Amino acid sequence: MSVIALVSAKGSPGVTMTALALASVWPERVALADIDPAGGDLIWRTRTEGGDPLDPDRGLLALGAATRRGAGETALVLHLQETSQGVPVLVGVPSPELLSGLGAVWGQLPAVFAAHHGDVIVDCGRVVPGSSVLPVLAKADAVVFVVRPDVEGIAQLRERLASLSGQLEAGRVGVIVRTTYRDTRSGADLQQLLDAHGLGAVVLGVVAEDEKGAAVLSSTRIGSVRRSLLGRSAVTLSAAVRDLAGFTAAVEVSA
Ligand SMILES: Nc1ncnc2c1ncn2[C@@H]1O[C@H](COP(=O)(O)OP(=O)(O)OP(=O)(O)O)[C@@H](O)[C@H]1O
Ligand SMILES: [Mg+2]
Repeated sequence: MSVIALVSAKGSPGVTMTALALASVWPERVALADIDPAGGDLIWRTRTEGGDPLDPDRGLLALGAATRRGAGETALVLHLQETSQGVPVLVGVPSPELLSGLGAVWGQLPAVFAAHHGDVIVDCGRVVPGSSVLPVLAKADAVVFVVRPDVEGIAQLRERLASLSGQLEAGRVGVIVRTTYRDTRSGADLQQLLDAHGLGAVVLGVVAEDEKGAAVLSSTRIGSVRRSLLGRSAVTLSAAVRDLAGFTAAVEVSA
Protein backbone atom coordinates (compact mmCIF):
# COMPACT_ATOMS: atom_id res chain seq x y z
CA MET A 1 0.00 0.00 0.00
CA SER A 2 1.49 3.32 -1.02
CA VAL A 3 0.59 6.94 -0.44
CA ILE A 4 1.41 9.19 -3.37
CA ALA A 5 1.25 12.96 -2.87
CA LEU A 6 0.76 15.06 -6.00
CA VAL A 7 1.78 18.71 -5.72
CA SER A 8 2.68 21.79 -7.70
CA ALA A 9 5.23 24.50 -7.06
CA LYS A 10 3.12 27.31 -8.51
CA GLY A 11 0.43 28.02 -11.06
CA SER A 12 -2.13 25.41 -12.04
CA PRO A 13 -0.06 22.92 -14.01
CA GLY A 14 -2.66 20.14 -13.81
CA VAL A 15 -2.22 18.43 -10.43
CA THR A 16 -5.91 17.65 -10.03
CA MET A 17 -6.32 16.40 -13.60
CA THR A 18 -3.19 14.26 -13.35
CA ALA A 19 -4.34 12.82 -10.02
CA LEU A 20 -7.70 11.96 -11.55
CA ALA A 21 -6.09 10.42 -14.64
CA LEU A 22 -3.69 8.31 -12.58
CA ALA A 23 -6.45 7.12 -10.24
CA SER A 24 -8.67 6.21 -13.22
CA VAL A 25 -6.07 3.85 -14.71
CA TRP A 26 -4.31 2.73 -11.51
CA PRO A 27 -3.70 -1.02 -11.72
CA GLU A 28 -4.34 -1.67 -8.02
CA ARG A 29 -7.07 -0.73 -5.60
CA VAL A 30 -6.75 3.02 -5.14
CA ALA A 31 -8.47 5.99 -3.52
CA LEU A 32 -8.11 9.61 -4.56
CA ALA A 33 -8.01 12.14 -1.71
CA ASP A 34 -8.45 15.85 -2.35
CA ILE A 35 -6.82 17.81 0.46
CA ASP A 36 -5.79 20.91 -1.49
CA PRO A 37 -5.79 23.63 1.21
CA ALA A 38 -6.70 26.21 -1.43
CA GLY A 39 -10.04 24.43 -1.84
CA GLY A 40 -10.96 21.17 -3.53
CA ASP A 41 -11.70 20.91 -7.23
CA LEU A 42 -12.61 17.25 -7.57
CA ILE A 43 -16.13 17.91 -6.36
CA TRP A 44 -16.67 20.13 -9.41
CA ARG A 45 -14.92 17.81 -11.81
CA THR A 46 -16.53 14.48 -11.02
CA ARG A 47 -20.01 13.02 -10.89
CA THR A 48 -21.64 9.96 -9.45
CA GLU A 49 -22.56 7.10 -11.74
CA GLY A 50 -26.07 8.52 -11.87
CA GLY A 51 -24.71 11.86 -13.10
CA ASP A 52 -25.30 13.74 -9.84
CA PRO A 53 -22.69 15.88 -8.09
CA LEU A 54 -20.81 14.19 -5.26
CA ASP A 55 -22.03 14.98 -1.74
CA PRO A 56 -19.91 17.82 -0.30
CA ASP A 57 -20.81 16.77 3.24
CA ARG A 58 -19.11 13.41 2.85
CA GLY A 59 -15.38 13.96 2.53
CA LEU A 60 -12.40 15.66 4.15
CA LEU A 61 -14.43 17.78 6.56
CA ALA A 62 -16.40 14.80 7.87
CA LEU A 63 -13.22 12.73 8.11
CA GLY A 64 -11.60 15.64 9.95
CA ALA A 65 -14.50 15.91 12.38
CA ALA A 66 -14.37 12.16 13.09
CA THR A 67 -10.59 12.28 13.55
CA ARG A 68 -10.86 15.25 15.92
CA ARG A 69 -13.38 13.35 18.03
CA GLY A 70 -10.75 10.63 18.20
CA ALA A 71 -13.12 7.71 17.93
CA GLY A 72 -15.47 6.10 15.48
CA GLU A 73 -15.46 6.77 11.79
CA THR A 74 -11.82 7.63 11.17
CA ALA A 75 -11.25 5.06 8.41
CA LEU A 76 -10.75 6.67 5.00
CA VAL A 77 -13.02 4.12 3.35
CA LEU A 78 -16.04 5.45 5.26
CA HIS A 79 -15.64 8.87 3.64
CA LEU A 80 -15.14 7.88 0.01
CA GLN A 81 -17.65 8.33 -2.81
CA GLU A 82 -17.38 6.53 -6.11
CA THR A 83 -17.29 8.59 -9.30
CA SER A 84 -18.76 7.66 -12.66
CA GLN A 85 -15.27 6.52 -13.67
CA GLY A 86 -15.23 4.11 -10.74
CA VAL A 87 -12.73 6.10 -8.70
CA PRO A 88 -13.35 6.26 -4.93
CA VAL A 89 -12.83 9.91 -3.99
CA LEU A 90 -12.38 11.77 -0.71
CA VAL A 91 -14.03 15.05 -1.57
CA GLY A 92 -12.14 18.17 -0.50
CA VAL A 93 -13.69 21.35 0.77
CA PRO A 94 -15.34 23.88 -1.53
CA SER A 95 -13.57 26.86 0.03
CA PRO A 96 -10.33 27.34 1.99
CA GLU A 97 -12.10 29.13 4.87
CA LEU A 98 -13.71 25.84 5.89
CA LEU A 99 -10.32 24.20 6.28
CA SER A 100 -9.26 26.33 9.23
CA GLY A 101 -11.23 24.02 11.54
CA LEU A 102 -9.08 21.04 10.61
CA GLY A 103 -6.12 22.16 12.75
CA ALA A 104 -4.39 19.16 14.27
CA VAL A 105 -6.16 16.83 11.83
CA TRP A 106 -3.49 17.61 9.24
CA GLY A 107 -0.96 15.82 11.42
CA GLN A 108 -3.22 12.77 11.65
CA LEU A 109 -3.97 12.43 7.95
CA PRO A 110 -0.75 10.50 7.18
CA ALA A 111 -1.83 7.75 9.58
CA VAL A 112 -5.36 7.72 8.11
CA PHE A 113 -3.95 7.31 4.59
CA ALA A 114 -1.35 4.75 5.64
CA ALA A 115 -4.04 2.62 7.29
CA HIS A 116 -6.13 2.49 4.10
CA HIS A 117 -6.49 -0.88 2.46
CA GLY A 118 -5.20 0.17 -0.96
CA ASP A 119 -3.01 2.86 -2.47
CA VAL A 120 -3.95 6.50 -1.93
CA ILE A 121 -3.27 9.27 -4.43
CA VAL A 122 -3.46 12.60 -2.63
CA ASP A 123 -4.08 15.90 -4.42
CA CYS A 124 -2.18 18.29 -2.16
CA GLY A 125 -2.37 21.29 -4.48
CA ARG A 126 0.32 23.95 -4.47
CA VAL A 127 2.93 23.37 -1.79
CA VAL A 128 4.49 26.36 -0.04
CA PRO A 129 6.80 26.49 2.98
CA GLY A 130 4.70 26.07 6.12
CA SER A 131 1.81 24.53 4.19
CA SER A 132 -0.67 22.41 6.14
CA VAL A 133 -0.04 19.46 3.83
CA LEU A 134 3.63 19.12 4.82
CA PRO A 135 2.95 16.28 7.31
CA VAL A 136 1.35 14.31 4.46
CA LEU A 137 4.34 14.97 2.18
CA ALA A 138 6.79 13.99 4.90
CA LYS A 139 5.15 10.57 5.32
CA ALA A 140 4.19 9.88 1.69
CA ASP A 141 5.92 7.06 -0.17
CA ALA A 142 6.30 9.36 -3.16
CA VAL A 143 5.94 13.12 -3.60
CA VAL A 144 5.33 13.99 -7.22
CA PHE A 145 5.39 17.50 -8.66
CA VAL A 146 3.42 18.28 -11.80
CA VAL A 147 5.09 20.98 -13.88
CA ARG A 148 4.76 22.71 -17.19
CA PRO A 149 8.12 22.80 -18.98
CA ASP A 150 8.21 26.57 -19.43
CA VAL A 151 10.69 29.00 -17.93
CA GLU A 152 8.47 29.98 -14.98
CA GLY A 153 7.33 26.44 -14.28
CA ILE A 154 10.86 25.11 -14.14
CA ALA A 155 12.23 28.04 -12.14
CA GLN A 156 9.47 27.63 -9.53
CA LEU A 157 10.03 23.88 -9.39
CA ARG A 158 13.75 24.34 -8.76
CA GLU A 159 13.14 26.91 -6.06
CA ARG A 160 10.53 24.75 -4.32
CA LEU A 161 12.61 21.54 -4.50
CA ALA A 162 15.54 23.44 -3.01
CA SER A 163 13.46 25.00 -0.22
CA LEU A 164 11.83 21.66 0.68
CA SER A 165 15.01 19.61 0.38
CA GLY A 166 15.36 19.28 4.17
CA GLN A 167 11.84 17.90 4.44
CA LEU A 168 11.61 15.57 1.45
CA GLU A 169 13.78 12.52 0.96
CA ALA A 170 15.47 12.88 -2.45
CA GLY A 171 14.89 9.24 -3.44
CA ARG A 172 11.15 9.59 -3.35
CA VAL A 173 10.57 12.87 -5.15
CA GLY A 174 9.33 12.67 -8.73
CA VAL A 175 8.33 15.11 -11.43
CA ILE A 176 5.63 14.75 -14.09
CA VAL A 177 5.85 17.08 -17.08
CA ARG A 178 2.59 18.29 -18.62
CA THR A 179 3.27 18.71 -22.30
CA THR A 180 2.21 17.41 -25.70
CA TYR A 181 2.68 13.69 -26.23
CA ARG A 182 5.08 14.48 -29.07
CA ASP A 183 7.44 16.35 -26.76
CA THR A 184 10.17 13.84 -26.01
CA ARG A 185 12.79 16.42 -25.08
CA SER A 186 11.41 18.40 -22.15
CA GLY A 187 11.61 15.50 -19.71
CA ALA A 188 15.23 14.69 -20.53
CA ASP A 189 16.23 18.36 -20.46
CA LEU A 190 14.54 18.83 -17.11
CA GLN A 191 16.25 15.77 -15.65
CA GLN A 192 19.60 17.13 -16.75
CA LEU A 193 18.88 20.46 -15.12
CA LEU A 194 17.70 18.88 -11.86
CA ASP A 195 20.82 16.69 -11.77
CA ALA A 196 23.08 19.67 -12.50
CA HIS A 197 21.59 21.42 -9.45
CA GLY A 198 21.83 18.31 -7.29
CA LEU A 199 18.10 18.39 -6.59
CA GLY A 200 17.71 14.62 -6.54
CA ALA A 201 14.25 14.47 -8.14
CA VAL A 202 13.40 11.94 -10.84
CA VAL A 203 11.49 12.91 -13.96
CA LEU A 204 8.86 10.19 -14.25
CA GLY A 205 7.49 11.10 -17.67
CA VAL A 206 4.86 13.11 -19.43
CA VAL A 207 1.19 13.68 -18.77
CA ALA A 208 -0.18 14.43 -22.20
CA GLU A 209 -1.72 17.79 -22.96
CA ASP A 210 -5.08 16.57 -24.18
CA GLU A 211 -8.18 18.71 -23.96
CA LYS A 212 -10.49 15.95 -25.17
CA GLY A 213 -9.09 13.43 -22.71
CA ALA A 214 -9.44 15.98 -19.91
CA ALA A 215 -13.09 16.48 -20.91
CA VAL A 216 -13.77 12.74 -20.94
CA LEU A 217 -12.20 12.40 -17.51
CA SER A 218 -14.47 15.10 -16.16
CA SER A 219 -17.62 13.71 -17.77
CA THR A 220 -19.81 10.76 -16.95
CA ARG A 221 -18.73 8.71 -19.95
CA ILE A 222 -17.23 5.50 -18.66
CA GLY A 223 -14.42 3.45 -20.11
CA SER A 224 -13.02 5.82 -22.70
CA VAL A 225 -10.29 7.39 -20.56
CA ARG A 226 -7.75 4.71 -21.43
CA ARG A 227 -8.15 5.39 -25.12
CA SER A 228 -7.34 9.09 -24.81
CA LEU A 229 -3.82 10.45 -25.04
CA LEU A 230 -4.18 11.63 -21.47
CA GLY A 231 -5.29 8.18 -20.32
CA ARG A 232 -2.51 6.42 -22.19
CA SER A 233 0.12 8.74 -20.78
CA ALA A 234 -1.34 8.10 -17.32
CA VAL A 235 -0.98 4.33 -17.79
CA THR A 236 2.74 4.75 -18.55
CA LEU A 237 3.13 7.21 -15.69
CA SER A 238 1.37 4.97 -13.19
CA ALA A 239 4.13 2.37 -13.59
CA ALA A 240 6.84 5.00 -13.00
CA VAL A 241 5.01 6.47 -10.00
CA ARG A 242 4.55 3.03 -8.45
CA ASP A 243 8.24 2.28 -8.94
CA LEU A 244 9.14 5.50 -7.18
CA ALA A 245 6.75 4.78 -4.30
CA GLY A 246 8.12 1.26 -3.93
CA PHE A 247 11.67 2.50 -3.90
CA THR A 248 11.46 3.75 -0.29
CA ALA A 249 10.02 0.50 0.93
CA ALA A 250 12.95 -1.41 -0.57
CA VAL A 251 15.44 0.96 1.05
CA GLU A 252 13.71 0.71 4.41
CA VAL A 253 13.73 -3.07 4.31
CA SER A 254 17.45 -3.25 3.55
CA ALA A 255 18.42 -0.50 6.05
N1 LIG B 1 -3.35 17.03 -19.35
C1 LIG B 1 -4.19 18.02 -19.59
N2 LIG B 1 -4.63 18.28 -20.85
C2 LIG B 1 -5.48 19.31 -21.11
N3 LIG B 1 -5.95 20.12 -20.15
C3 LIG B 1 -5.55 19.93 -18.89
C4 LIG B 1 -4.66 18.87 -18.53
N4 LIG B 1 -4.43 18.94 -17.21
C5 LIG B 1 -5.15 19.97 -16.76
N5 LIG B 1 -5.81 20.58 -17.75
C6 LIG B 1 -6.65 21.78 -17.63
O1 LIG B 1 -5.86 22.81 -17.04
C7 LIG B 1 -6.58 23.50 -16.03
C8 LIG B 1 -5.86 23.35 -14.70
O2 LIG B 1 -5.83 21.98 -14.37
P1 LIG B 1 -5.93 21.47 -12.87
O3 LIG B 1 -7.09 22.08 -12.18
O4 LIG B 1 -5.83 20.00 -12.90
O5 LIG B 1 -4.59 22.11 -12.28
P2 LIG B 1 -4.10 22.21 -10.77
O6 LIG B 1 -2.61 22.18 -10.84
O7 LIG B 1 -4.79 21.20 -9.95
O8 LIG B 1 -4.60 23.68 -10.37
P3 LIG B 1 -4.92 24.30 -8.91
O9 LIG B 1 -3.60 24.59 -8.26
O10 LIG B 1 -5.69 25.54 -9.22
O11 LIG B 1 -5.72 23.29 -8.15
C9 LIG B 1 -7.98 22.92 -16.04
O12 LIG B 1 -8.78 23.72 -16.85
C10 LIG B 1 -7.82 21.55 -16.66
O13 LIG B 1 -8.97 21.12 -17.37
MG1 LIG C 1 -5.99 21.34 -8.28
